[in-house]
Amino acid sequence: MSQSGLDSPTTEGTGRSHKLAVIGGDGIGPEVTDAALTILDAAQDRFGFTTERTEVPLGADAYLETGDLLTPEAIEVLRSNDTILFGAIGSPRVTPGILERGIILALRAELRQAINLRPVRLYPGVPTPIAGLTPERCDLVVVRENSEGSYVGGGSTVHRGTPGAVATQGSTNTWYAVHRAVDFAFRLAAERRGKVTLCHKTNVLVEAGALWLDVVEEVAARFPDVEHDYVHVDAMCMHLPVSPERFDVVVTDNLFGDIITDLGAVLQGGLGVAASGNLNIDGSAPSMFEPVHGSAPDIAGKGWANPAGAGLSLALCLASLGEGEAAAAVESATAQVLADLPELSGANMGASTAELGERIAGAVTDGHGSVQSSLMTQLAAVQAGLAR
Ligand code: NAD
Ligand code: IPM
Ligand code: MN
Repeated sequence: MSQSGLDSPTTEGTGRSHKLAVIGGDGIGPEVTDAALTILDAAQDRFGFTTERTEVPLGADAYLETGDLLTPEAIEVLRSNDTILFGAIGSPRVTPGILERGIILALRAELRQAINLRPVRLYPGVPTPIAGLTPERCDLVVVRENSEGSYVGGGSTVHRGTPGAVATQGSTNTWYAVHRAVDFAFRLAAERRGKVTLCHKTNVLVEAGALWLDVVEEVAARFPDVEHDYVHVDAMCMHLPVSPERFDVVVTDNLFGDIITDLGAVLQGGLGVAASGNLNIDGSAPSMFEPVHGSAPDIAGKGWANPAGAGLSLALCLASLGEGEAAAAVESATAQVLADLPELSGANMGASTAELGERIAGAVTDGHGSVQSSLMTQLAAVQAGLAR
């Protein structure tokens, strides 16, 4: 992330330029990413910066054509950029796991994107399936450890396809990665409402659980003004929709974070609305911003995908580049357009994916929307602290 601060004043024509790699990917990935780029055009025009964009063709088409997943050349191109916008990857034409592990997880690891930041925020006027939920009660951030757990645990299978089949799937948990995530969560909470909740399954996964608990106690000692508590991941699936107001920053293991943030997306209105940032916090490589959803093959090509998650991911991306005003404008405009939709996905959304991109872009140009964005500024403060 840039260290130039997220709320620097707009300076027209100062020649600020950012190198942006774009991975549309599969299914609705390119559709929502195109919409995000339309929104970016409007933000650039209004806030006086430019981007040099490089498309990196990764995904099912490239894989089926060449057998390549993530080549060293592609990694070099990505590394040479300031930031990455990512759509989605995954296709029914390819065995599950090949593209997901070979591209998304490989990228997160290769680019040392230690934290997967997933805000769960219900914007005013946006319909949520959770009865009675109000925006005041739904503003939390999930800090998902992004490099290990069962995602890199290794495994083996013997006698596949016979009744003697045995599959093992491990989970790797290091003090280093857990500490990095927990420390980030406490720093973020210190800028917010001052509360960290550890979400795990310490009653069953006793080895990994004890490590997470130990690290939380260790880090908590350095943050006397941040309170902390603990919730089992199964109970989290009840608390999150029923009483999200009890959470400020939730820190959790890679797999639990994956699962609870799809639930978090529902609180916000649906899977099409949720945003994320894979953050490189040591400055060694670019961060990567992507909607929480996948390639949605069931609606690909129909124009039914909501581009809000991609738009809000763009806002996070702009914040990390130091374009704080543009980030806030994109967030506000996206929230405003969402609030006017009859439905948040599918045939009855009232507009196609591309039209929604245009609509959000128009709202950026006109300065519509009035969401108070605190997360962008909080991230800047955390980043400044990490750089010290
Ligand atoms: P998914 O998120 O693609 O879709 C789940 C459901 O949500 C579908 O009914 C889909 O139509 C709907 N949906 C998703 N995004 C939407 C949007 N923007 N607007 C409206 N509706 C939306 O999850 P899945 O079906 O489990 O997975 C499909 C493929 O995507 C798989 O190959 C999976 O591995 C992959 N995947 C990739 C990512 C990623 O690229 N980061 C994330 C999740 C899943
Ligand atoms: C996500 C996705 C990925 C994950 C998959 C596709 C590898 O579900 O970004 O949430 O599990 O992290
Ligand atoms: Mn997921």
